[in-house]
Parts: sequence; structure tokens; C-alpha cells
Amino acid sequence: MSGPHVPFSRPSSSEEEHRRVLAALQEGHLQGGGPWTDVCEAWLESSTRAVKALLTTSGTSALELAVLLAGIGPGDEVIMPSFTFPSTANCVVLRGATPVFVDSDEGTMNIDPVRVRAAVTSRTAAVIPVHYAGTGCDMDAICGIARDAGAMVIEDAAQAVCASWQGRSLGAIGQLGALSFHVSKNVSCGEGGALLINEPRLVERAEILWEKGTDRKRFLRGEVAKYRWRDVGSSFLPSEVLAALLSAQMERAWDITRARVGLWDRYHGSLAPLEDAGFLRRPTVPAGCHHNGHIYFITLRSTAVREMVVEEMRRASIMVQTHYVPLHSAPAGRRFGRAHGPMDVVDSVAPRLLRLPLFPDMTPEQHAVVVGVLQRVAGMGG
Ligand SMILES: Cc1ncc(COP(=O)(O)O)c(C=O)c1O
Repeated sequence: MSGPHVPFSRPSSSEEEHRRVLAALQEGHLQGGGPWTDVCEAWLESSTRAVKALLTTSGTSALELAVLLAGIGPGDEVIMPSFTFPSTANCVVLRGATPVFVDSDEGTMNIDPVRVRAAVTSRTAAVIPVHYAGTGCDMDAICGIARDAGAMVIEDAAQAVCASWQGRSLGAIGQLGALSFHVSKNVSCGEGGALLINEPRLVERAEILWEKGTDRKRFLRGEVAKYRWRDVGSSFLPSEVLAALLSAQMERAWDITRARVGLWDRYHGSLAPLEDAGFLRRPTVPAGCHHNGHIYFITLRSTAVREMVVEEMRRASIMVQTHYVPLHSAPAGRRFGRAHGPMDVVDSVAPRLLRLPLFPDMTPEQHAVVVGVLQRVAGMGG
């Protein structure tokens, strides 16, 4: 079959990104924590209303910084969805604590609050909700459960830049939130991330942990005469070259989001008849959620049908992708964590879920050809 080649994703880039990277190189301040980092952190603070944002080298490192800051350690348990990226669990394992995996809601693939409540024990130190596909988890329920348990909420908002829940930015609702600016994300500098700190009492220590356990940030602000080793810490700062690139992406973040949400809506409209016919299930967006069009996923009737769709897409030169192998069934998940309660939804949906191509420059022709393949496999024309 002929048709345009459709990549799964393609980062959006403009002249301004190039200009700012060159500017950063010419300015000669290549290490982290400089003026471009300040620009990015100010954008994050004003767009999310977080008390403080700290740029990090990745979403993974933002999660590691969050868990360190939360004081999570041996003997603690942290409740999280099984349907997530390994970084959500690794940060907990690195501190000697135990990830406790629970099931998801079928429409959003977000953590199911009923399962979270059932998994709480006297050892529960935190809950990490993951806003899958940039659609918010039920934060009222999760924050309520965490409050009752005396646990913290660390949002894994890796996929959720420019998305909100009940008018509040994702990542800025729990005590801490982690964002990712990996190349696969809506706003990207290749590898990057940020920690959002939403409680004033945590800010001073966060700055110290971020800067190798020193008070260098206070020193640079002229608040102390010299900087010293004050606490544990590590190097979480990205180079100014990446911050310069990211600052240009941030200026276009809402345009990128609008373009993605438009494409997401177009899929949603085109695929309604296929859902009515029982061929696939479309994602659900709960009331009050403003997602960011990060992922459009469908759930097919069976793994065999998914394989058929993948093969037909491949023949049409269209890149589609499956997603997570649930962590409770992965080798490291079994070794380091434990599952709580039934995993009916993730066990059933993960092997049938498929992500469709979606990127800001996607053309209507590319979009139509993807939908056409699905219609054809469903026996509904195309
Ligand atoms: C849910 C989730 N958490 C964490 C991460 C890790 O982010 P990064 O790749 O920036 O380290 C990702 C990245 O794919 C993710 O999807």
C-alpha cells in the first residue's frame, strides 16, 4: 500500500532553539544554574503556580530528588501504579524502600484510588500518582487518602506539562511533582526534567540536595559568605546549553499543546464509529481534566488484533507503539516491589493497548492514513 511515511513522534523545533543554544555557547556559562536555568524555572513557577521549580537532568532525576527530599528510606512503602515507567519505582528502590504496585482505571490507565486506599499500611510513606498520557489522576481522592495515611503525594507528571486537573496544574497539586523534558515529551531539550516543590518548608533543603548537598545557591545569591557541604545531595543540574534550548521550547509550549490537543480530538472524533462497532476502546478524559494531547492510545479487543493492526501499520509505513510492561510482572518489579490487590485491568489492557502517531507537525493526510488503516482492519472501509 502507498501513503506517506508517518513517524510515531517528531520533536517540534524552531530557529529560536538554534539561536539560544548558540547564545549559551557564546556566553561561555556552560555549567548549570545560570541565567537560562532561571528563565526556565521562572516559566515553570508562573505557568504551574508551584512555590519553586528546580531544573533537573531528567524526569528520572527529578523523581530521585523528590524521594530523597521526602526522606523516604528502608522500611517505607510507596504506592504507585503498576502501569508506569520503571523510573517511578527505581527512585524508591534506590532509597531502600519498597514500591507497592496497584491496578489502574481502564478508561484513563491512571492509578485507581480505591486500590490505593486498600494498599495503605502503617509503612506507607508516599503515593506516586502518574498522570498517564497527560490526563490527571483523581487528585482529590489521592490527596485525601495520603492525608489520612500521613503520607506524601509525589506526582509523576513526566508526561503532563501544560495539563491541569480542576484548574490546577499537574505536578503542582501534591507536595512534590516531577516533569520530564525528554525528547519524547511535548516540551523537550533532549534529556531534561524539573522538580516542582509545592510546600514552602521543603524549598531550602531542595536547593541544597540539588547542588551536591551544598548551600551554593544561597552563596550565589549573596546570602552566605562561602558555601559548604550541608546535607546529602547529588548533581541534578542540567547544563545551560540545554536550559537555553528548553527556554525556547517553553515559549512555544502552549502552541505545541494546542496543536497536539487538536490532533488528539481529531483521532477521538474519527474513531468513535470504531468504538461503537466494538473494534476498539478510546481513552476517557474525566470531567475537569485538561489533558495536553501527549498520547492518543486505543485498546484493541485482543493482543492478536493488536498484532494485526501493528502489522498493517508497518506495511503502510506508519510507526505505532505499544506501552509499558506492567511493573508488577517485570523481573525487577517482582524482585524489588510487591503487588497489592488484583491487577485485572493492567493485566488485561497492557497487552492490547496501542499508541498512535501524534506530533505537532502531523498533516491531515498522515492523520487520515492512520485512521484508514484502523477502519480497514475493522472491516469498515478506509
Ligand atoms: C511516567 C514516566 N515517569 C518517568 C519518566 C522518566 O522521564 P525521563 O525520561 O525524563 O527520565 C517517564 C519517561 O518516559 C515517564 O513516562
